[in-house]
Amino acid sequence: MTLKDKKIIVGITGSIAAYKSALLVRALVKEGAEVQVIMTQAAKDFISPLTLSTLSGKKVLSEIFEEDEWANHVMLGRWADIMVIAPLSCNTLAKMAGGLCDNLLLSVYLSAVCPVVVAPAMDEDMWKHPGTKKNLEKLLSWGNLVIPVGYGELASGLTGEGRMAEPESIVEFIAGSLSKSGPLKGKKALVTAGPTYEHLDPVRFIGNHSSGKMGVAVARELANRGTEVHLVLGPVSQHFDLNGLQVKRVQSAEEMFIACKEVFAGMDITVMAAAVADYAPAEYSQNKIKKNDDEMVVNLSKTPDILKSLGQMKTPAQVLVGFALETDNEEANAMKKLEAKNADMIVLNSLKDEKAGFGKDTNKVTVFDRKGGKKAFDTKSKEAVAKDIIDCIIGYTNA
Ligand code: CTP
Repeated sequence: MTLKDKKIIVGITGSIAAYKSALLVRALVKEGAEVQVIMTQAAKDFISPLTLSTLSGKKVLSEIFEEDEWANHVMLGRWADIMVIAPLSCNTLAKMAGGLCDNLLLSVYLSAVCPVVVAPAMDEDMWKHPGTKKNLEKLLSWGNLVIPVGYGELASGLTGEGRMAEPESIVEFIAGSLSKSGPLKGKKALVTAGPTYEHLDPVRFIGNHSSGKMGVAVARELANRGTEVHLVLGPVSQHFDLNGLQVKRVQSAEEMFIACKEVFAGMDITVMAAAVADYAPAEYSQNKIKKNDDEMVVNLSKTPDILKSLGQMKTPAQVLVGFALETDNEEANAMKKLEAKNADMIVLNSLKDEKAGFGKDTNKVTVFDRKGGKKAFDTKSKEAVAKDIIDCIIGYTNA
């Protein structure tokens, strides 16, 4: 979750679902977010401002003017990283779609420069009314995000569509939207993952134990953060959820090289997590090689070093990240690879580490970069390691 220190406005409108906003505010605060609650007058009939100010640790705002004080809606709209209106009533939705500004929540909405997320809540008949649909379409056309309503028991006693999404789903949605609006939004990335198979004949190959988990985790995390990801994936046996990624499946180092060269020039970030074979059989036999002598010699020739070649093609604006899997002299070898391959960053994982490496769900890495940076991380899930690597890339580009 990426909500730590995020500034979030939670807008609450008049709907019975407002009671769930207390849980939403609590969950956001627990994740480390700073929450400012803004309520409409009608919302106060459903939940007390005292509950929300206690949970958020901040005075709840409601009026444009309070006694002789003016709530600066423009600054509030600029302060927030994201604004979420949950629950969104039919009435406030219509006012938003119409550009009305008769309360603080609406004036902040109109001034907000951050992403705006709404979680509608209403009875099914209102939800299905063409007026509601049109209003929602307007919001969507302006780039606001709508969290789908749920199906279930409604305030009217009827059962149907229109329930506000549960607070946990709203928190997840907010985290997803925030990461997609971060510094990687709109960037393009190439990621390689998995082993390569170097075929000897139609039934045999030279391969390795790479599962592809680390590279796929990096690819998915980049996509989660709004990057267009091209994944060049070697022959992996595990089924991965590759939704949202542009995937090119390859077998050999040569094929991986061709696939990488095709897209590399257009990439902002390249992460080479694949375990590429260094040597391939010099000759491929069209027919299965028959058993003959007691000994057999296979001549191998060097495969293209993809990382090194991309390092030679790279422009200063591109970030190139390699992996190093070492069994000895880890740091020195990793630094040598950084230099020799003209990479910006090397992610070192050691085979000495019990919980790191091939096929495991966890990894322990140290990241070295060209500007002299070195960051050692604890053993973590490969998903969490992917987040660390990507945070390092962002840090490196900002340094
Ligand atoms: N790599 C590559 N092409 C190759 C070999 C490796 O692109 N033919 C990339 C890997 O994807 C990784 C980095 O280079 O990002 C380092 O891989 P590694 O196997 O650790 O290093 P090698 O250069 O192969 O050196 P050695 O095997 O001697 O340690």
